[in-house]
Formats: sequence, C-alpha cells, structure tokens
Amino acid sequence: MNDSAPNVAWVPAVEEGNGPMYLAIAEAIARDIRAGVLRPGQRLPPQRALASVLGIDFTTVSRAYSAAGKDGLVEGRVGQGTYVKESGPANPVVSGSAKNQTVDMSMNVPPRLEDAGLVRRMWQGFDALRSEHGVEFLMRYQMPGGSHEDQQAAQFWLQRHLGLQPHDDIIICNGVQGATWTILSLILEPGDTICCEELTYPGLLALARHLKLNVVPIPMDADGLDPDALDEVCQTVKPRAIYTTPTLHNPTTITMPVARRARIAEVARKHDLQIIEDDAYGVLASTAPDPLCTIAPERTWYVSSLSKCLAPSLRVCFMVPPSGTSNDNVRRAMRANGSVVSPISARLATNWITSGLADKILSAIRFETERRQGVLRQSLPDIRVPKDAFHVWLPLPDGCSATEFVLKLRGSGLGLVPGAAFALDKAPNAVRVALGSTDTAVNLGTALRKLVDALENADQHDWMVV
Ligand SMILES: Cc1ncc(COP(=O)(O)O)c(C=O)c1O
Repeated sequence: MNDSAPNVAWVPAVEEGNGPMYLAIAEAIARDIRAGVLRPGQRLPPQRALASVLGIDFTTVSRAYSAAGKDGLVEGRVGQGTYVKESGPANPVVSGSAKNQTVDMSMNVPPRLEDAGLVRRMWQGFDALRSEHGVEFLMRYQMPGGSHEDQQAAQFWLQRHLGLQPHDDIIICNGVQGATWTILSLILEPGDTICCEELTYPGLLALARHLKLNVVPIPMDADGLDPDALDEVCQTVKPRAIYTTPTLHNPTTITMPVARRARIAEVARKHDLQIIEDDAYGVLASTAPDPLCTIAPERTWYVSSLSKCLAPSLRVCFMVPPSGTSNDNVRRAMRANGSVVSPISARLATNWITSGLADKILSAIRFETERRQGVLRQSLPDIRVPKDAFHVWLPLPDGCSATEFVLKLRGSGLGLVPGAAFALDKAPNAVRVALGSTDTAVNLGTALRKLVDALENADQHDWMVV
C-alpha cells in the first residue's frame, strides 16, 4: 500500500494469485456485500483514491467496478461515484407483468447462487471454451453420446460423487427427459406396461402418454416404492420395466434405504424387469446409499443429471445402460429422436468438471439450499426436509383441497404445484413447494409467510371440492 495514499472508507481484501487483479477486487466487493461489510446504498471509494491506496492503475479499479456492475451489485451515478445497489441483482425467476407478478415456487430448480465471484467464473468457462477448442469445432454436429473427453469428465464426476465405476462408455444426453425417451423407446413397445412410484415425475407420465405405454402406479411407504406391492402387481399385469427415483424422490423427498433398494432389485430379477433409475438428485444429496445400478447392473438404465447439482440450462445428463447393452443401438435411437446433447453444453460441463469449478458450484447450491431450509423452518417449523433437498412436500389439512389451494394462491401471485400433477390415480392432498425458484431467500420468506397465512385463514368450506 502507498504511504502517501488518501484515506478511503473501504479497502478490498484482495486474494492474490487468483486471476486478474480487477476480478479479485470485484470478488472482494461481492464478498463484502454478502458479509454486510458493504451496505446497500454505500458509496465505494473513488476509483483514483482506491487505485492509489492499492498502488495499482486506476483503470484496474475501473474495470473491477464495471465487473461488479455487470453482476448487478453496484451502480454508477453520474457525477456522484459508484454505489452498492439498494436491491440485489435483477430477478430472473419472477414471472408475469410488473403489475401482476407471480412469486414462483413451482419450478424445482437449484437456488440462485449468491456468490458473484463464482458466477463470474462460471461465465469465464465460455471464454475458456473458445480459446481451448475454437468456435468452429463447437459449431459442428457431433456424435450422439458425447465426445471422448466429455465421457471421461462424466466418468470422473460419477466416480467422484457416487463412487460409480461404469463398465462401459457413459452416454451423454440432453437431460434425463431426453435420456428417458431414448430408453423407453428402446426397451418398450406401444401398449407395454411400465410401473413407477404412485407419485412420480410428471415428465415420465408425459413420455408414457406420448409413447402409448400403460403406466401402473405402485404404492409407496416411508421408504419409497413398496417392493411387495410391486411383486404382487407383477403377478397380474406383467410389466416389462420399472421407473424409479430412489434418491430425494420428486415430490416426496424420500430416499430409499439400502435394504429397500436391494429388495427392489430382487423383485426386478424375479420378474425380469428392466429398471430405469432416474437419479436426477443423486449427486445433489451429500449422503445417499449406492445407486440401484450397483446392485442390479445387468438390468438397470442409470441416468444422472447436472440439472439439479449444477445448472438446469445445461440439459446435460449421463446415462449408463445395463452391462452388455450395445451402445450403438442407444446412439442410433438418440440420433432418431434428437436427444443429442449440444456440444457447447457438454463441453462447458466438462470444463467446469475438470477445472474443479463444478465441485464449487455443487457446494454453493448445497449452501444456498441449507440457507433456504432455514427460511422454511421460520415459517413452517414442523416440516421435515432431508438435507440437500430444495423441494418440500406439504400435506394440507382435511377439507382444504390442494388443487383449489394452488389456484387460489396463484390468483394472489404465488406459484405451487398440487399433488395431482404427480399422480396417476388418487392424488394426495398435498402441494410441492420449490424452495429454489424464488429469486432470493428473503423473497422466499415473504412467499412462505403468505402461504402459511393462507393455510391458517382457509375457510374450510371454501376449499371443498365437490
Ligand atoms: C425426478 C426428476 N427427473 C428428471 C428431471 C428433469 O431432469 P433433466 O433436466 O435432466 O431433464 C426432474 C426435474 O425436475 C426430476 O424431478
């Protein structure tokens, strides 16, 4: 620091050797805003004064303020200087017109990352793509299933977070939805029967309708899908496959214990069922038993997604077919139905994984999830949510119909999903609340208070469905 430098009210604690100086300053701004050291509306030191204090060129400070501005953290006021913004960055998930905004708690996405430095490093991944591979390469069609480099990154990721050691190449697809379409079209014919949990991911139900499959829901208990009920159903309807989400099940958040997984594998073997294991939340869960594919590798189509543990917009998922499957057939099906991942997305994911950034994003998502669970407990202290789950399954009191409740709250600007969206048969009287989809934890608190208020003031007769 320069001895004759002016006094300034705030000096960034710059971590050296961590990229360019201007980014280190921008990260310090983000860090200090998060920590409350820099308050909303506070003026940042004049650029020349701070440059003098730090002994650096004034253009470096200027670039740093501009980077923080792009992250929505600070704003320049003409003739006055640079100020910490009064409100956070622009809200990406509030939908509707300004007059009639809906606070969305219906879309099950990871919470927005508050760490501006981390977000900036995610963006830098795009620059790295250009310099490492060239835009030309990324603009071409590529083989269905991903490049060798992308497959190796996928292998590393699944080994690191789930201890999986796939027997063959991993196939990279555009999301669990694309992968499931490919699998269903390979192993089932129209009119065939597939079983699933009695509450299941609506994307599966949409695909089954599209492919003209019969879906038979299997009852669940506190440990998930009931294997005895599955066994019984198999005696009569002769399904050919089962679709299950054993970890942080959507919508119930149940994670099947080891013994339950083993028993399901046993029943699947007994009736020669193929298993589609949708592990969309598997990596997100910091503790979960080994996936079903490790117990029944000969019949399990395992699918892991980056949507919940990194970013849904990537639409990148990793498929491990059963041992002995011809991956050529899988690739042919993917070429036919278009579930091929964009090389740009796949390479960005590879870049994040191999640089270690993906681990940081995952930790940040878990951190923000914990923070949002804390906000939930303030409004609904009795609701139990497993660690790392950013969705909540909320049973409603008798007489308060979930569908009516959702419609009513939608009318007052709050988005939730009723139990009926996940059910084929009788819909439970419950709603799914997505903690990650409001723009900030503060807005989540406001939305949850509104929800609790609606629950407490529900005129029982208003909610009756006849
Ligand atoms: C159980 C389950 N499977 C799959 C998906 C979608 O995954 P992807 O984005 O990889 O298609 C979701 C998204 O909510 C989900 O809850």
